[in-house]
Amino acid sequence: MSRVTTRSSPSHPAPLDAGTRAARAAGNAGEPTVEFADATPYEQYVGVRQLQALVRPVTEHPAEPAFLVVTQVMELWFTLLRREWELAQRQLRADDLDAAIGSIRRSVHHLRSLDASWGSLLWLTPAEFNGFRDQLGEASGFQSYEYRHVEFLLGLKAESVVRPHRGLPVVHADLQRALAAPSLEDDVLAYLARRGLPVPAAVLDRDRTVTHEADPAVTAIWAEVYADPRPGNELFALGEVLTDVAEVFTTWRQRHVTAVRRAMGAKPGSGGSAGLAWLERSAARVVFPDLWAARTVL
Ligand code: HEM
Repeated sequence: MSRVTTRSSPSHPAPLDAGTRAARAAGNAGEPTVEFADATPYEQYVGVRQLQALVRPVTEHPAEPAFLVVTQVMELWFTLLRREWELAQRQLRADDLDAAIGSIRRSVHHLRSLDASWGSLLWLTPAEFNGFRDQLGEASGFQSYEYRHVEFLLGLKAESVVRPHRGLPVVHADLQRALAAPSLEDDVLAYLARRGLPVPAAVLDRDRTVTHEADPAVTAIWAEVYADPRPGNELFALGEVLTDVAEVFTTWRQRHVTAVRRAMGAKPGSGGSAGLAWLERSAARVVFPDLWAARTVL
């Protein structure tokens, strides 16, 4: 059974055990508790006022709050993905494959919700976007550092995307560390090597600061794993859940491109790029290339 750490502080609700919970429910005659001396425990836990204080549109345009909130919600999904994949890395390093597959599987559900969030923005017309766009200045999702952590964990690495964050030393140092650190795929390959599979030393020791390319020897390993596609083949299950991650993440990027095409056509981006053409190139980068290449050789 996993151990759960509980904390108690002015910003956390006081813990409640099952016995006390049952006694309260009996005392309340089945109704919820409605008397609290302080902010409700829900407020202490969720921090609704703090969340609301962060929803600060820069114009009065009625389309802007949805744009801002969807962007903030997506940032939270990025943070959650990062947590799941960093956890999966620790589980792989401990040779706990079942737990790692569980964490990655959870992340696929988060990715689907992240992707579904586009639904709240697809109504945005060019005239509506123009109604508040100028006031965003040079602000662009290109400057999202949580998104960069997500990309780095997926093996999409580039030093150039770390540079915008030099003005925030803590964020910059964390991203620089992540650039040079193993991606989720690096940890998967190290795990396969520990299981005796012939991952080349050059792949295990590769420069982690650059985007991974498919490697014929690694592609051959996945092809071998995929030759036995039974649910009981745990490496096949690992390959499939990683393929789900790659697929849904790619879908999110493609839907971003479509949202951009719809809201601003081929005009230049706020972040200084050519806009659509630049994004299309960026979205074409392949996540977990060996897993896709294996399908060609099978
Ligand atoms: C329909 C509304 C949106 C438009 C028109 C738009 C536009 C753009 C453009 C033009 C770029 C290229 C960089 C530049 O600004 O020059 C970009 C990049 C980016 N945007 Fe958006 N965006 C929209 C919504 C969002 C939302 C809601 C998010 C969520 C956080 C987001 C995240 C990103 C990210 C992560 C990048 C960098 C992509 C990469 O490096 O491949 N965008 N966006």
